[in-house]
Amino acid sequence: MRKRILAVADMVHPYIYRDTFPSGLEPLDLVLIAGDLPGYYIEFIATRCPCPVVFVHGNHGEEKVKDYLGNMVDPGGAINAHGKFIRAGDFSIVGWGGAPRYNERNDGGQYSGMEVKLGLAKLEWGLWLEKRKHSTPFDIFLTHAPPPGPHAGKDYAHRGCKEIGEFLARHQPALMVHGHVHAYEGKKVEYQTDFGSRIVNAYGYTLLELELPSAESTVQKNIRASSQSVFVASDKQVSTD
Ligand SMILES: [Fe+2]
Repeated sequence: MRKRILAVADMVHPYIYRDTFPSGLEPLDLVLIAGDLPGYYIEFIATRCPCPVVFVHGNHGEEKVKDYLGNMVDPGGAINAHGKFIRAGDFSIVGWGGAPRYNERNDGGQYSGMEVKLGLAKLEWGLWLEKRKHSTPFDIFLTHAPPPGPHAGKDYAHRGCKEIGEFLARHQPALMVHGHVHAYEGKKVEYQTDFGSRIVNAYGYTLLELELPSAESTVQKNIRASSQSVFVASDKQVSTD
């Protein structure tokens, strides 16, 4: 199954934030939002796209929107994948937002190496169970920060996250999408690791195709039939409809 994915991060792009979006694009199967984008933009995309819209937060704390009671909440219509293993449509996704800590600000967008390590470790038990049912436990790793390597920034605030890189190497998903590092640094938008994972920087917007295994297990079919599902780190299942 060849799937079409729109990935965005870090800037409100005029090609996406326009009256006629998504006209001009072939039908999308998934939107991935890799952080540092305002909540109104995430809601705009979610209201225009008839496919799952999955996001993680960046390091600037701008993803929340105000609800009718004045509370700051996640943007409507989109699935927050931070610290979760989720199934949305045909896709299985692990998410981790924020960036490696680079100053003392404490607004929830920066994490120590130990926090990343423990946060992702909480998912490993569920992923191990998935691996017994599927050859690869998940297809997509959605993060804000890049792993160490070609997409890592040269400065301390945009350095690659070692713990994200280790998690990536352990599970080797088909695709990793991140943001945080701006494309004007002259880096390639996509590269492939030596173990075969595609690494895509979603800065601005990027359209990509992903080949998914065509054979679905009964479990997957049942989950897909019940629309979208979220499996949180503790193995709880929460409907997101
Ligand atoms: Fe960032």
